[in-house]
Amino acid sequence: MKITFEGHSCFTITGAKGSVALIDPFISDNPQCKKEAADFHPDLLLVTHGHSDHLGDALAIARQADSVLAGPVDLLDNLTLGKISSIGFNIGGVIRFLEFTVIMTQAIHGSRLPDGKYAGLACGYIISDGQTTVYHAGDTALFGDMQTVISRYPLDFALLPIGGYYTMGPEDAVTAVHWLQPKTVIPMHYNTFPAISQDPELFKGAVEDRTEARCLILAPGESVERTVNP
Ligand code: NI
Ligand code: MN
Repeated sequence: MKITFEGHSCFTITGAKGSVALIDPFISDNPQCKKEAADFHPDLLLVTHGHSDHLGDALAIARQADSVLAGPVDLLDNLTLGKISSIGFNIGGVIRFLEFTVIMTQAIHGSRLPDGKYAGLACGYIISDGQTTVYHAGDTALFGDMQTVISRYPLDFALLPIGGYYTMGPEDAVTAVHWLQPKTVIPMHYNTFPAISQDPELFKGAVEDRTEARCLILAPGESVERTVNP
């Protein structure tokens, strides 16, 4: 699996067999992302909630790339999808698509569409390509089910918001790492806007002092790859 940070909470996940999933495609209005929406051709597009910094360019990308759009059913039901193929599911549900298995997880956060429509519950995802498992927490506060539900899955990577203000900040994110026990944590949802300014190096220091995980700070456009020998 290859994980590319596109800035903010947007990640491209390329599975071991080459299938591509794109999460929270906030591209054209994302000051951290130098790419254009037209540069993305995912097989699967996942959105965690309706806020514009997550839904982003999802509809335009799904249309242009013929992607399958998956996300909370109450969100997808309020979008004008036209010919876009979609999978609306809900927290606790599992979908299988190409090489990916995707579990929708709880997130403690709001969700409404840019036009003000209600969009159901916000979520996170656990995504596996059969070899590597990554947890994208979405926008969320720290919550106890990270310890009791999500930590049941052996996580190679956890992508956690650290910006504070709209989500948990670095202190709570360190507790999340302690509970989730991923091999590697990658911080997200910080420094995009002044309200979510954080020093990721301080977070990295705290993670590596207080947990067994390694913290990997990716600059927008950077990737990490995990290969498993057969
Ligand atoms: Ni949000
Ligand atoms: Mn957000």
